[in-house]
Amino acid sequence: MTIGAGVRPVKTPVHVGDRAIVDIGTIAHGGHFIAHLSGHTVFVRHALPGERARIVITDVSSKIVRADAIEILEASPDRVAPPCAWARPDGCGGCDFQHVERSAQLVLKGQVVRDALARHAGLPEIDVQVEALNDDGSGLHWRTRVRWTVNGDGRPGLLAYRTHDVVPVDKCLLASPGIVELGIPQTRHTGTTEVSTIEGDEGRVSVVVDGRLASGKQRTDQRVRGRDWRVDVASFWQVHPRAADTLVSAVLEAGRPAPGEHWWDLYSGVGVFSAFLAEEVGVTGVVHAVESGSSAVRDARRSLHDLGQVTLHHDNALRWLRAADERPDGVVLDPPRAGAGRDVVQAIAGAGPRVVVYVACDPVALARDVALFASAGYRLAELRAFDTFPMTHHVETVGALIPVTLAHPIS
Ligand SMILES: C[S@@+](CC[C@H](N)C(=O)[O-])C[C@H]1O[C@@H](n2cnc3c(N)ncnc32)[C@H](O)[C@@H]1O
Repeated sequence: MTIGAGVRPVKTPVHVGDRAIVDIGTIAHGGHFIAHLSGHTVFVRHALPGERARIVITDVSSKIVRADAIEILEASPDRVAPPCAWARPDGCGGCDFQHVERSAQLVLKGQVVRDALARHAGLPEIDVQVEALNDDGSGLHWRTRVRWTVNGDGRPGLLAYRTHDVVPVDKCLLASPGIVELGIPQTRHTGTTEVSTIEGDEGRVSVVVDGRLASGKQRTDQRVRGRDWRVDVASFWQVHPRAADTLVSAVLEAGRPAPGEHWWDLYSGVGVFSAFLAEEVGVTGVVHAVESGSSAVRDARRSLHDLGQVTLHHDNALRWLRAADERPDGVVLDPPRAGAGRDVVQAIAGAGPRVVVYVACDPVALARDVALFASAGYRLAELRAFDTFPMTHHVETVGALIPVTLAHPIS
């Protein structure tokens, strides 16, 4: 039977554990690929577009059906053998794309960013290429922060996809060399629930067990473009060792801060962007850095003390914005994964900066906020994307939003 436009296919129930053979379609956000089964849209992991695969249903709810590809009957040319034996159905949930050739990973992530902007921001034509970082290209050994969950026997492992089940991995191929050397999965941590390992630029690793420093230093040494930070194990720092450097360059290129300008660095962490904004605006300029995490503000205070043009605000971004009474020239906005949201976007737009540089680790949150900025008179003028999380579905973007009155190619 041919199903005409506007006629919904009849749904027959599917259940966890059902198996079927399906054709895999396009990528969806979150490391899934779309397939159709019994009238349902199914979000399939471990597959690739164009493949024919046997799947097993892993999750059925009123909103979504999830599945794993457990046998590939017709493989995509982009498929490779996963370097990690734990990257498989029923394995570790940390990696989504170990079975995908590295350059194809970038293409897929670019598609996700484009789809998010089309679907949530009404911008269907944005051509964004995901740029690899200047690393060894393997996609491995970059994760300088790894959180291990301890099972009931005291053994640390990594979590299975969307569960609290601890997978007893023998090692993690994404972990940085210093973390691998510690052999955390081979250690016993009876009576604890979580072990965090944090490697600084000098290669030393701090180990935090259930929130308390167990070995190493409370603050790791980090360096970006010749500036040094001492970053508390509780403060935010980019996970990929090349990420901070790459994002600082992208932010400066997008915002072009100039001498004497006033900038706001919202969700400023330990002040990485603030430091380099400060260098650009110089001693006649001003940078207001706003961050709610107390350890990050402390770290920023220590690391930025030579930059008198920076004022640190230990505050909630929205509360600070509501009290701010100057018109900034530019704003850097780097919120947590959920995005900035309507109130923050409106407050920034209301202050009338010439440019907002938006750093986002979730393309859907970015797209939703871009739509909010559009309602507030700002449009996306530039967008770059970076592969700061190889082998996973995650991607970082840096966009420039400018007032609609200014002419620009992306609108
Ligand atoms: C994605 S990180 C960015 C940090 C920094 N821009 C960097 O690149 O290192 C987001 C930061 O926002 C902070 N944060 C979360 N919610 C906040 C809020 N409501 N107001 C201010 N800061 C917040 C977090 O503590 C974290 O440091």
